Amino acid sequence: MPKTVFVLNGPNLNLLGKRQPEIYGHETMADVEAMCRETAAEFGFEIRYHQSNAEHEIIEWIHEAREVAAAIVMNPAAYTHTSVAILDALNAFDGPVFEVHISNVHKREAFRHHSYVSLRADGVIAGFGTEGYVLALRKVGKLLAAGKA
Ligand code: DQA
Repeated sequence: MPKTVFVLNGPNLNLLGKRQPEIYGHETMADVEAMCRETAAEFGFEIRYHQSNAEHEIIEWIHEAREVAAAIVMNPAAYTHTSVAILDALNAFDGPVFEVHISNVHKREAFRHHSYVSLRADGVIAGFGTEGYVLALRKVGKLLAAGKA
């Protein structure tokens, strides 16, 4: 049975492509989902892809991941910088967690420099645009192939 990887996206990412394209680019969430599915197919795993503007919904998906997912790739968006609750949920998940930011958060406002999620993440990708999702999923694919996820 192919392994399942959760790809989770936080608030306002549903507006990707329309929202501040000078920062986040012109690709939409649907484009990113398609790229992620393509990468997963290349490596032979399945993904469950979600986006929500609600913190509780993201937490529920992380709880679900505990039961069914080998790894989580996550762009927590603004919750990165605010959510102890998402950090706590991730701390209850055993597999690898990779944090992705489309923009280079370290080049931006000081409040974006701190990430609660980074306290749990096994790797962080920032500033590679939407390609960051693909890079993170490739890493997951390699870990799965090596039996490390
Ligand atoms: C983001 C960076 C966050 O600071 C911001 O709140 C987002 C998107 C990124 O992908 O660059 O919504 O996570």
